[in-house]
Amino acid sequence: MAEPIRIVVTGAAGQIAYSLLYMIARGEVFGKDQPLILHLLDIPPMVGVLEGVVMELADCALPLLREVVPTTDPLVGFKDVSAAFLVGAMPRKEGMERKDLLSANVKIFKVQGEALDKVAKKDVKVLVVGNPANTNALVCANYAPSIPRENFSAMTRLDQNRAASQIANKLGVSINEVNNIIIWGNHSSTQYPDAAQGKVLVKGEWKSIAEAVNNDAYLQGQFIETVQKRGAAVIGARKMSSAMSAAKAACDHMHDWWNGTAPGKFVSMGVFSDGSYGSPKDVVFSFPVEIKNKQWKIVEGLAISEFGKSKLNITSKELEEEKNEALSVLDSN
Ligand code: NAI
Repeated sequence: MAEPIRIVVTGAAGQIAYSLLYMIARGEVFGKDQPLILHLLDIPPMVGVLEGVVMELADCALPLLREVVPTTDPLVGFKDVSAAFLVGAMPRKEGMERKDLLSANVKIFKVQGEALDKVAKKDVKVLVVGNPANTNALVCANYAPSIPRENFSAMTRLDQNRAASQIANKLGVSINEVNNIIIWGNHSSTQYPDAAQGKVLVKGEWKSIAEAVNNDAYLQGQFIETVQKRGAAVIGARKMSSAMSAAKAACDHMHDWWNGTAPGKFVSMGVFSDGSYGSPKDVVFSFPVEIKNKQWKIVEGLAISEFGKSKLNITSKELEEEKNEALSVLDSN
């Protein structure tokens, strides 16, 4: 069997981590024959909760899990890790302005970027889940100059999974029979879920979702809104956020990054923009990507409608604003 690899989950005492740690330790991301050492990073007030999580992981009796390292020290948490799930973040509290939220998170992701830079493996794959995920990933990468910035990404896979599930439900097909739906831009309410490039398997043949649904008003209206507001709908119903589906999406994201995508299939990831599709350069922007040998590549040459372009502009503008706000917080520190 292979040597164990070290994987860190931050926010390890929180809700998403509670599902995520189990999925990772079962081998659903890095493979069923890859032993793991899990690093659990959280903040000092959560030490007691972390102890409980460590006990439960032991009680799960998982053969791949060789060791668990609970810590509140980023230099221990990130030491020699091959993959990092950055889930922990400052949640929005009542009365908090967007700028205050951004400011609190910029500080967290600066510290974590610096720690990754110092002690993580140089080929570490970093997935930022904690919100605002795209801008947190940007800040984190900026403080880890010795790690290639292609190794930093933000999660929009939950939005992709939600979008695919809406289409599968609408057409009465299985989720495996829906491919290549794209989430463009920011993981926020300005994201653009785009089914226009997607494909669906109908009677043994892949055809375009636009053709199968045959309802532009739905694809440009209710479909987009449902995906954009799905997080709020889950909170409304469950009184807690969508932690199980977020954990599953984080596993899907890292699984595909680690193992690659099937030919002709693409997935959405927030990655550093090279200006593709008119997006602003150097923000973390969700694009369709194909992955081979652990390297992602933006899928180029897709036709974007005028409607799509107007949506891309909105989310681009928001990401630029967030970037400038984050930079101003950093400048003032
Ligand atoms: P939670 O509040 O249950 O857990 C967050 C954990 O992070 C807490 O244990 C907290 O102590 C910890 N934490 C805070 N600051 C930290 C730091 N500096 N270092 C290490 N740990 C720290 O929240 P939950 O539900 O697990 O969500 C976590 C984040 O994921 C939130 O920011 C949420 O908005 C975001 N999220 C992102 C999604 C996406 O699609 N990108 C989907 C769902 C949630």
